[in-house]
Amino acid sequence: MSRFIVSRDRGHHVRRWEDYETLARAVFEHVNVGVHHDLLRIPYTHLIMEYGMKIPFNKPYMTGNELPYIAQAHANRHLAGNGAFTRRCCDWLEAGIGCHKALLTHSCTAALEMAAMLIDVQPGDEIIMPSYTFVSTANAFVLRGGVPVFVDIRSDTLNIDESKIEAAITSRTKAIVPVHYAGVACEMDAIMDIARRHNLLVIEDAAQGVMSTYKGRPLGSIGHLAAMSFHETKNIISGEGGALLVNAPEYAERAEIILEKGTNRSRFFRGQVDKYTWVDIGSSYLPGELTAAFLLAQMEKAESITARRLAIWEQYHEALESLEVAGKLRRPIVPLNCQHNAHMYYVLLDSLDTRKRVIDGLKQQGINSVFHYVPLHASPAGQKFGRVNGLMKNTEVLSDQLLRLPLWLGVEGEVKKITASLLALL
Ligand SMILES: Cc1ncc(COP(=O)(O)O)c(C=O)c1O
Repeated sequence: MSRFIVSRDRGHHVRRWEDYETLARAVFEHVNVGVHHDLLRIPYTHLIMEYGMKIPFNKPYMTGNELPYIAQAHANRHLAGNGAFTRRCCDWLEAGIGCHKALLTHSCTAALEMAAMLIDVQPGDEIIMPSYTFVSTANAFVLRGGVPVFVDIRSDTLNIDESKIEAAITSRTKAIVPVHYAGVACEMDAIMDIARRHNLLVIEDAAQGVMSTYKGRPLGSIGHLAAMSFHETKNIISGEGGALLVNAPEYAERAEIILEKGTNRSRFFRGQVDKYTWVDIGSSYLPGELTAAFLLAQMEKAESITARRLAIWEQYHEALESLEVAGKLRRPIVPLNCQHNAHMYYVLLDSLDTRKRVIDGLKQQGINSVFHYVPLHASPAGQKFGRVNGLMKNTEVLSDQLLRLPLWLGVEGEVKKITASLLALL
């Protein structure tokens, strides 16, 4: 039995991602591992699950500049939020997306909660959204007493069906939250037109939408407000991380206040007031500079990361064409007016049973494939806090059929094996 020791070096538990991987593999393979007691703090049960798989579902990509930038933040001795790295990340977002103002947050969930405060959601106000989305899309508004009103999704993109929105509008409707699933844009022209005619606000949930466009416009630049995620499962990452994008300038000043615990601290730092004080509701939503330093390294490589992801996505798409022609699965559909960011490659199988069988079959071969959202309208909290408008047929059927395949930088050489395994199982 071999023995593998990971030592603690000058305060760093493990210095390279590969070390985590090696450790996780060693533990998984029941090798006798000698580990410094501090290493026991690493959540490696998660890593064991992922790396026990020969092909994990996700593997965070590091550009190589993260640690030098973190060292710079360390040397700057500015570790709290709103420092030089945060400014550079916000500049990148404002320049690339073209939003009026970008505010870095510690998650997309935080940005959505800020949006709910900003639009002043009152108890009983209704927010129209898809049910096929992440919990935070709805929870952010429920925290303010809002009522999520769930409508069905389109069968092609799995995005909110814009033709179902108008029927869900009542005198209590305050906003629409389109979610750009898999980084493919919702039908934003139609949604913005409905909002304008009914005097509603639009908050884009662009958690998965960095570097994607709709009719040439970046996702996150179209609604009054937008929220983006830099969670480690996204294309551009900082572990946890996110941003609130403000397109309607009238929300910009209050957004800064909400970000900073309800104080006018940002104005104070710009010398616009001589002391800062509590002026509104808010919370602590900003990330520290170490996180921003990491994120900037990723943002600077966003073009090449997206290009490589798109190439992997195309590899899957080509390899699975024959299975689609044979009627064994359906591949993702990207409308011509949308440039997506290859956030995800999914297939739609014929039933829940087939999906279970395929997940198990792939697992036997060391390939980790996963399903996605459990529709919110069917969840205990969704039933308690929200309501459904109209039939939810596409949501119910497609959520059972959807299977996500591994997509991360480095999986290129495994795509053939994954698609061949899928073929053998169908
Ligand atoms: C559509 C959607 N909205 C919001 C979120 C929340 O993002 P975060 O984890 O950054 O809070 C996610 C996370 O995956 C998501 O998929």
